[in-house]
Amino acid sequence: SPIAPCDFVVFGGTGDLTVRKLLPALYLRDRDGQLPDDTRIIAVSRAGLDAAGYRDKVHGELERFVTSDALDEAVVDRFLRRLEFAGIDAADGSTWEPLTALLPREADRIRVYYLACAPRLFGPISENLAANGLVDQHSRVVLEKPIGHDLESARAINDAVGAVFDESQIFRIDHYLGKESVQNLLVTRFANTVLEPLWNSTSIDHVQITVSEEIGVGSRGEYYDTSGALRDMVQNHLLQVLCLVAMEPPTYVDRESVRDEKLKVLQALKPMTPEDAERDTVAGQYGPGLVNGVAVPGYRDEADNADSRTETFVAVKAEVRNWRWAGVPFYLRTGKRMERRHSEVVIAFNPVPHPMFPGSEGTSEPNRLVIRLQPTEGMRLHMTAKEPGPGGIRLRPVSLDLNYTEVFPHPSPDAYERLLMDVVRGNPTLFMRRDEVEAAWTWVEPILANWARTERVPRRYPAGTDGPVDAVTLIERDGRTWNEGALR
Ligand code: BG6
Repeated sequence: SPIAPCDFVVFGGTGDLTVRKLLPALYLRDRDGQLPDDTRIIAVSRAGLDAAGYRDKVHGELERFVTSDALDEAVVDRFLRRLEFAGIDAADGSTWEPLTALLPREADRIRVYYLACAPRLFGPISENLAANGLVDQHSRVVLEKPIGHDLESARAINDAVGAVFDESQIFRIDHYLGKESVQNLLVTRFANTVLEPLWNSTSIDHVQITVSEEIGVGSRGEYYDTSGALRDMVQNHLLQVLCLVAMEPPTYVDRESVRDEKLKVLQALKPMTPEDAERDTVAGQYGPGLVNGVAVPGYRDEADNADSRTETFVAVKAEVRNWRWAGVPFYLRTGKRMERRHSEVVIAFNPVPHPMFPGSEGTSEPNRLVIRLQPTEGMRLHMTAKEPGPGGIRLRPVSLDLNYTEVFPHPSPDAYERLLMDVVRGNPTLFMRRDEVEAAWTWVEPILANWARTERVPRRYPAGTDGPVDAVTLIERDGRTWNEGALR
């Protein structure tokens, strides 16, 4: 059903995120009849365009970023007519007239201000919105990650935006929370009873979270080179997934309960001492290599910075210090230009306490539950079975498989489709609250500080591989192994 009357105002209206994700998501919601007839999308940017020029540009981009079977000429036309363009310098209030002219005061109309621009602009844009009388109780502001660069800058942004908007109007996006497979983590845990009694240190040996990407930094080098994988992926996406795996059952799934429980997990993460950071973190950077048989340049070439020390790969051993998880390591890793796009959560259970089958020592692998998040959703439980035969008992690994695309053949909506509609509905459950963002920075900061102090140079790994060998050492020195290839 259609959402309430609203307009979307997108700062960073010609940027990578807007054309690749936001506009395709809004287009698809439009196609499904969810946007009211008078909904407009107002792009704000310094680019020298007018509405007609912007519509032309977006027309071309939709053809690139929306699958052809979802493109319908009549819908595309209707969608393009919704687009307006305000060519202003968002940070300079004296240039705002073209935007304010597009936004006359209208009682009860929801306005979503989507800040898909550099985080240093979040404060100034909020101030300019207020100064121009564009903020009332129907306004919402969406902040794209990264929320700052470290704890201090995150607090400054939260203060500046918070001076204009109430926390209930602020939507900090972590698009991983909008992914169907990530939401399903909660359902898998809490809408079933078989797993939860085992979901603790008594039965679980360790947890792995892997988010591997095939793509490199492409044209985002300028942003990425000042960020790196720890800030770009671990501080937000991987820690959010960790929270969903580790949190206690909330009483309800509502706007605060889930976020309260996630916050408790973040607060229970063991703070990294310099020695921990030295021992338990690995930074890597891709060099040239082959991805799917195609030669690709190294990171330093792509980012156009021959001396760059920015990490494109991170592995970390984390610990959640609470009753449920004491002593259970959480191994996290993420990297760009890895062998393939693949994300999974692995719950590695304890080994059997006693090898009772003659000759079975070492042949029975501990059970593993592998929850695949991307590129397709699935779940696999690794078990041990008897190999059929008249001789003695021989053990063989087997698996129970659940492939969601077979069960639910319809394609899932993109994370941004869900999240944008939640913003209009005023539902912040799948967005990060201020305290969560700051708790995540609190944990990440000592790692960054340690890397800076020791002038750590990331280990090189060839593009198209699974990262530096140090990441293997990180887990193998504990007598454990990454879940390599289990789902290939
Ligand atoms: C973004 C990061 O938040 O997530 C990108 O800034 C990364 O660097 C992307 O590529 C990964 O998202 P997804 O949905 O493709 O896994």
